[in-house]
Amino acid sequence: MKKFLVMSDVHANYPALQAIETFVRRDRFHRVINAGDLVVYGTFPNETIEWFRKKKNTLSIVGNTDNRVLRIMAGEPLDRPRREEKRVMYFWTCENLLPGNARYLQSLPGQRDFTIDGIRIGVSHGTSDDEEESLSPDIPESRFRELARKSTCQVRIMGHSHIPFHKIVDGVHFLNPGSAGRMFDGDPRTSFAILSIHSGKISVEHFRIRYPVEKVIESLKKNRLPDIYRKMVETGKKLN
Ligand SMILES: [Fe+2]
Repeated sequence: MKKFLVMSDVHANYPALQAIETFVRRDRFHRVINAGDLVVYGTFPNETIEWFRKKKNTLSIVGNTDNRVLRIMAGEPLDRPRREEKRVMYFWTCENLLPGNARYLQSLPGQRDFTIDGIRIGVSHGTSDDEEESLSPDIPESRFRELARKSTCQVRIMGHSHIPFHKIVDGVHFLNPGSAGRMFDGDPRTSFAILSIHSGKISVEHFRIRYPVEKVIESLKKNRLPDIYRKMVETGKKLN
């Protein structure tokens, strides 16, 4: 049996990442998978990146917020988001990201796939077509069928929508572990999944666990960041 810890959209929420690590005991896993958006909207970008960077069995890709940070650092203007209170977190991240961690982000691909025990697993941030396409269980079945038809993988892991789900369409397992660091559904607990592969059988378990939100709030205050971020982590809701 091979087990994978699957996470996405950590968004620099290191206290949430630590809570997951304590809960699962990392050494049980064949690999730890991160489907992108390691940074922005939290105040622990370096701790978060280093957690993935310094351990051998991780498989990471970049997401859209990571790519925006990299573009700002390369001197490009930030086109979106437009709201000032949201933009501030991108610039704060750029100012605080250590050069080695920025280089690590830059080294990550936008998509990856690998084979384990004859099962092909693909990882992308949005979908395999678009890093900003939000997939959720209630989008038209026809879109899932289209993605399944094009897929060379039996398992498609993705993030971006921050909605945890596991849906099997035409033999392809679509898995979103939800967001580890920035919840949208009104439940402030961190979200992740465990994927198990055993004799060609694929199974998925979703988890929501509590983490010390107060550590995030304390750090937001210390860094004088807008109060909307305190509300975001306390309520587990979107910024707008
Ligand atoms: Fe995200």
